[in-house]
Amino acid sequence: MTVSLSPITEQFGAVVSGVDLGRPLTPDEVAAIDSGMDQYAVLVFNGQDLTDEQQVAFSKNFGEMENKTGGNIRTEERVNQHINDVSNLDNNNKPFDRNDRRRFFNLGNHLWHSDSSFRATPAKYSLLSARSIPSEGGNTEFADMRQAYDALDDKTKAKIEGLVCEHSQIYSRGKLGFTFNEEEIGLMKPVRQAFVRVHPKSGRKSLYLSSHAGRVLGWPDPEARLFLLNLLEHGTQRQFVYAHKWQLHDLVMWDNRQTMHRARDFDETQKRDMRRTTVAGEAMTVEQAAA
Ligand code: OGA
Ligand code: MN
Repeated sequence: MTVSLSPITEQFGAVVSGVDLGRPLTPDEVAAIDSGMDQYAVLVFNGQDLTDEQQVAFSKNFGEMENKTGGNIRTEERVNQHINDVSNLDNNNKPFDRNDRRRFFNLGNHLWHSDSSFRATPAKYSLLSARSIPSEGGNTEFADMRQAYDALDDKTKAKIEGLVCEHSQIYSRGKLGFTFNEEEIGLMKPVRQAFVRVHPKSGRKSLYLSSHAGRVLGWPDPEARLFLLNLLEHGTQRQFVYAHKWQLHDLVMWDNRQTMHRARDFDETQKRDMRRTTVAGEAMTVEQAAA
């Protein structure tokens, strides 16, 4: 079998075939996937019925696993220690009640974001595996922040060059009225991120937006928030978006440095068991002074 890619749009997203992610990959297969990520930023693999261990082993081809400490309010685990549980299920595999705080936290994933932009060194790749899906809805949408950057006018490009934002889950979840206790706040101190990122291989620039962004350094807060909202609207126009309709055992892999994503609505009395592995980033986007 050889890895082959069929592009979803010319620049953004591709479906990968000819590879079984449940077994060790050859260096050529890893290289083909890596270069596909550089080019398309989102890759879809169908029919990959993986265990947590197989998902972790596949993910490790692309770097170290991110340490998930401080990423979620959930304390007990339903899944492997390297997996982020983004399901709607409690430890008895039952959908959360409507008023469950863990459900409220997960609703934050329905806001456009880039994974772990609230960490000093934010995530490189995320890999999401569909172990159980609802009968309808629950798509994941991806927005191409490279095309979004390219489409900005020169004045805006000049304005954002060199700007730094503060990101924290307090800002993102706060938008939904979610509140954290003191211990959680201690784990969610804002970090600094560049507004514009440059891809290390392609050299392409992208808008580094995320719901976690709450402030622009040196700017008054209302002006910063309005600016971020306007750019969010710009960057998520339909021509920049790929909506993934899940099939059971799909695995979708995306580059958080070049994209945003969000979950869409579904009937939450049904099970949606999605499990994410996260490949750690290789560098901070700006130096971290005391944010
Ligand atoms: C994630 C995420 C969206 C979804 O796993 O990081 O945001 O559709 N998931 O579950
Ligand atoms: Mn996410």
